[in-house]
Amino acid sequence: MSWYERAVLPHLLDLACSMGPIQHQREKVIPQACGRVLEIGMGTGLNLPFYDRARVKSIVGVDPALQMHKLALKRSLAAGIPVELVGVSAQSLPVADASFDTVVSTYTLCSIADPLAALRELRRALVPGGKLLFSEHGRAPDEGVLRWQTRLQPY
Ligand SMILES: C[S@@+](CC[C@H](N)C(=O)[O-])C[C@H]1O[C@@H](n2cnc3c(N)ncnc32)[C@H](O)[C@@H]1O
Repeated sequence: MSWYERAVLPHLLDLACSMGPIQHQREKVIPQACGRVLEIGMGTGLNLPFYDRARVKSIVGVDPALQMHKLALKRSLAAGIPVELVGVSAQSLPVADASFDTVVSTYTLCSIADPLAALRELRRALVPGGKLLFSEHGRAPDEGVLRWQTRLQPY
């Protein structure tokens, strides 16, 4: 792993993903999680402060980028929410069928090479009638924003 991927990327991602409008989305979506929760692409754990501790029984966080785990664990301690972190891809989850009440994905599907495979795995992991909570982004319809997205994409 390069120095950039190890030392810079986690902090860059943390900064980019904690901007006001994104945090606002987290605030709307994450408190709806309940029971046994699976969060895919946990990254640096920016959703952790938004979970409702009274409704959540346990959280498993999946992210193949092991260099993100350190910041996620730090946030888990700060939020007082224990998380089991697993360094695997959401495309192939080492979890039993119907073992989670809620699956969470925020700004992750766009990073996954085969998002359909991941969605199939999420459906398999959810109990029938379970909740998939997601917040995602795509190409902006606004030309100015799109130009910035294109500039930033390589990083
Ligand atoms: C833009 S970040 C979003 C992080 C976090 N979900 C958030 O809301 O701040 C995308 C995350 O997806 C992770 N990721 C990439 N490929 C993945 C995969 N195949 N399975 C699960 N997570 C993956 C990345 O390592 C990264 O942490």
